[in-house]
Amino acid sequence: MRLAVEVWRQHDADAAGGFETYEVTSATPEMSLLELLDMLNAELVAAGGAPVAFDHDCREGICGSCGMMVNGRPHGPEDNTPACLQRVRSFSDGDRVRLEPFRGGSFTVLRDLAVDRSGLDRVIASGGYTSTPTNAAPEAASLPANELEAAQAMDYAACIGCGACVAACPNGAAQLFAGAKIGHLVHLPQGRVERYERVRTMVEQMEDDFGYCTNYTECVPACPAAIPLQAIAELNRERRRALWHQRKVDEAPEARPKGWLARLRTGPWWQSDPDDRPMPTER
Ligand code: SF4
Ligand code: FES
Repeated sequence: MRLAVEVWRQHDADAAGGFETYEVTSATPEMSLLELLDMLNAELVAAGGAPVAFDHDCREGICGSCGMMVNGRPHGPEDNTPACLQRVRSFSDGDRVRLEPFRGGSFTVLRDLAVDRSGLDRVIASGGYTSTPTNAAPEAASLPANELEAAQAMDYAACIGCGACVAACPNGAAQLFAGAKIGHLVHLPQGRVERYERVRTMVEQMEDDFGYCTNYTECVPACPAAIPLQAIAELNRERRRALWHQRKVDEAPEARPKGWLARLRTGPWWQSDPDDRPMPTER
């Protein structure tokens, strides 16, 4: 297959970048996108040029390091598939394939397609620790977890931290990512000890590094881990729980409104303290 590969070339974070087009004449349909770049790099190096810088590690959809924009879509033409698992067969002979770095939020281009995504790491680090019992291994099933809650936690834990949701979002928001990270801990008993502090600090850090979600929902089809939009609702619900909890801590019992004044202030039951309501799967 013959492909015209248009690649963003930028020497470093301060340099001006631009597209350069290279002809690749011996691509095969079963090659991955990263193998196409490997082939291009081998040709560039053989000709005395500089190879295209791009991030990659596992090449099997686990590490989340390979993100790039392919013809304007995060990761490439196949939905919910990371760049390393995208195949050249998605293109036709003679096509142009335009490769650009992820942009959005605090992402900065380090070189060519390689991007500084440490903003995502800062969001995770700001969440701190989870309290884990040490010493002897606990008895099996001594921490009972609702089966549906455990399954939900596993679904959120599938987030590979690639940043495609940020790159896809017109606001550069990281709500899907942060929602998955908050959601996977909050659905298990082990993650509930530092629950309120964690959500407050993670949301604060997320807002420092990224834009704010206005429900474009562009993030969901771009996500290689198929994290559902529900993760954003999860984040908002947990944030509200944390605010209510903080208000309880801040307000001395005697200063809290009582009777009709309390009802006026808290509104009807659906606006009441979410702490007092069961989790959706427990209703
Ligand atoms: S939510 Fe999806 S797109 Fe966003 S970082 Fe996680 S895996 Fe990547
Ligand atoms: S290289 Fe690890 S997810 Fe693509």
